[in-house]
Amino acid sequence: MISDNMLEELNKQVNEELYSAYLYQAMSAYANSKGYRGVAHWLDTQAQEEMIHARKFYDYILERGGRVRLLGIKEPPVDFGTLLDIFEAALAHEEHITGRINHLVNTAREERDHATDNFLQWFVAEQVEEESTATGIVDQLKLIGDNMGGIFQLDRELGTRPSPSTESE
Ligand code: FEO
Repeated sequence: MISDNMLEELNKQVNEELYSAYLYQAMSAYANSKGYRGVAHWLDTQAQEEMIHARKFYDYILERGGRVRLLGIKEPPVDFGTLLDIFEAALAHEEHITGRINHLVNTAREERDHATDNFLQWFVAEQVEEESTATGIVDQLKLIGDNMGGIFQLDRELGTRPSPSTESE
C-alpha cells in the first residue's frame, strides 16, 4: 500500500508535469508568433512529451490503488524574450524538475517503497536526457549569437524533431 505522503507527492508531480506541458506550449506559441516555426515545433513536441510524463504518474497512482487529485495548473508567462532566453528558461525548468524527481526518490527510499523507487528510475534517466538536450541548445545559441544564418539553420534543425509517439518510451 502506498503511503498518504508518497501519494501526495506523486499527485503533486502530475501537476508539475502538466505545468511543464503548459509552459512549453506557451513557449511554442511565443516562438510561433516570432516566426521561429522550427523552434515552435520543437517546443510543441516537448509539450506533448510532458503530457506523456503526467500520464505515467497518473497511471502509476491508479495502478497502486491511490486517488488521483488534479490540482490547479498555474498560468505560464506569455513573453519569453530571445531564443536564448527561452532555452535558458527551459533548462532552469528541467533543473527544477530534476530536483523534484530526486525528492520523490528520496521520499520513496525513506519509506522503503521499492515499487515507487523503481517506477521513478525511468524519470531519473529521462531528466539526464532533458537537461543534456536543453544545455546543448543553449550552447549552440551562445555560439550562434546574432548570426542570422546560424539561427535559420538551428530553427530548421529543431523543426525536424519527431513526435513523441515515434520515440521509444
Ligand atoms: Fe517531464 Fe521535462 O520533465
